[in-house]
Amino acid sequence: MSAAPILNPEPAPIVACTVSRDVSNFDLLIEDMESELGESWGDLSFDDALLFLSQPDAENLEFVAIAVDSEDENDLTRISGIITTAKEKGVRVILIAEEVSPIALHQLLRLGADGFVPYPLPEGALHEAIERLGHSNPAPAPQVPAHHAQAESPSFKATGGRDGVVLPVHGLAGGVGATTFAVNLAWELATIQDGNKKAKGTPPRVCLLDFDFQFGSASTYLDLPRREVVFELLSDTATMDGESFRQALLTFNEKLHVLTAPADMLPLDIVTGEDIDRIIDMARANFDFVVIDMPSTVVSWTEAVLNQAHVYFGMIELDMRSAQNALRLIRALKSESLPLEKMRYLLNRAPKFTDLTGKARVKRLAESLDISIDVLLSDGGRTITQANDHGLPLAVNAAKLPYRKDVLKLAQSIAELNRAAEAAQS
Ligand SMILES: Nc1ncnc2c1ncn2[C@@H]1O[C@H](COP(=O)(O)OP(=O)(O)OP(=O)(O)O)[C@@H](O)[C@H]1O
Ligand SMILES: [Mg+2]
Repeated sequence: MSAAPILNPEPAPIVACTVSRDVSNFDLLIEDMESELGESWGDLSFDDALLFLSQPDAENLEFVAIAVDSEDENDLTRISGIITTAKEKGVRVILIAEEVSPIALHQLLRLGADGFVPYPLPEGALHEAIERLGHSNPAPAPQVPAHHAQAESPSFKATGGRDGVVLPVHGLAGGVGATTFAVNLAWELATIQDGNKKAKGTPPRVCLLDFDFQFGSASTYLDLPRREVVFELLSDTATMDGESFRQALLTFNEKLHVLTAPADMLPLDIVTGEDIDRIIDMARANFDFVVIDMPSTVVSWTEAVLNQAHVYFGMIELDMRSAQNALRLIRALKSESLPLEKMRYLLNRAPKFTDLTGKARVKRLAESLDISIDVLLSDGGRTITQANDHGLPLAVNAAKLPYRKDVLKLAQSIAELNRAAEAAQS
C-alpha cells in the first residue's frame, strides 16, 4: 500500500481514473493502478465519468482506464460517449476488457482508445500501456532498443499480378520455436542464391505475416517496431488496397517485407476468416512467398489459413506435450474434414545424428502419431536466442550454425519445387 496519509497531508493530484460499472470486479486493475500511481488516481462510475470529464478538475487527468466486461455490452452507447468525451478533452484512454465480444471491442477501439489490455491483466501489461501513452513514470523503463536501423518502409509498388506460395508455421505447443523458424525461413527465401539463369538472379519477393496478434515476436527477432497502422489495417480489411497494405509493411535489410503484430495486444478473434483471407490474398498477389507466423492457439480463422496454405508447417519437439497436442490437432482437422494432407511436421531441437536412442524416439513418435516427420532442425543452444535478441536472422549472425543450414536447405528445396511448378505451368 502507499505511504501513510499523515506524511502526505496535501491530497495527491488525480492524474488518472478507472471508469467501470463496478471497479470491485477488476481487483487486479486496482492493484496495478496502485502500484503505478500510488494515491494519485480515482475511480468513477460510468455516470460520474461524463460529469467529471466536463469539470475543470479533469484538466489534470492524463488518462482514464475504462474497464468493461460482457455485461456492459448493452451499455455500449454510454461507454462510447465516455471515450469520445475523454478524447475531446485531450485525456488518453486505455481500454481494459474482459470477455467482451470482438464486435463490441472493435467498436470501442475504433473510437480511438490509445491502448488496449485484456483482463485479467497480464503481468506488467498496464505498466506498458501507460508507458506507451508517454506518461512520465518514476520507474525506469525497460531497456528496449530505440533505434531500428534496418526498418524501412517498402519501396516496391503493390501492383499485384503475382501468385505467392503460402507457408504458415504453427507451433503445436508454446515456445517450440515456430517464430524463430518462420523468421529464418522467410529470410533464407528472400536471399536465396538463384542458380536458375532464366530468373536472372533476382531473388523471390518474400513477405512475413505475423498473425500472432498477442505475443507475436517476429518484430522482436528482426528488431522492427510494432506500429499502430497494423491495427488500422486489421480492423478494416474491407477497405484495404495495395497501397494501404504496403504502408503497413516494414522492410528488413531491404529484402524481407514484414507485417508485424500490432502495437497493442489484441484478442485473436479481433479478425474473422474473411479478414484473414483478404490479407493473404493481398500478400499473395504481391509476393512470391508468404510465410505466416501462426499463434499456437487454434482460432476461428485457423481454417482460413489452412485452406489458403500450400504447405502448413506444424512444429513439434520431442516431448509428450507436443505429441499430445499434435494428436488433438490431427483429430480436430479430421473431424472437420480439413485438408490434413497439407500438414508437414517439423521437429525442432531434434536429437543429434549420432544419438541413436534419440533417433529411435523420433521414429516411435512419428509412428504413434501416424505422421511422417519431414524435417529435423538441430538444437542451436544459446546462439539462436542471442541472434533473436539482437534482432538478426541466423544467416547474418551465425551462418555456420547447423540449425541455419537445416533451414537454408529447406528454403532451397521449397524454392526449387516452386520453380519446377512454375516451369511446368508455363
Ligand atoms: N533449434 C533451437 N535451438 C535452440 N534454441 C531455440 C531453437 N529454436 C528456438 N529456440 C529458442 O526458443 C525460444 C522460443 O522460440 P520461439 O519464440 O521461436 O518459439 P515459438 O514457438 O514461436 O514460441 P511462442 O509460443 O511464444 O510463439 C527462443 O528463445 C528461441 O531463441
Ligand atoms: Mg511465436
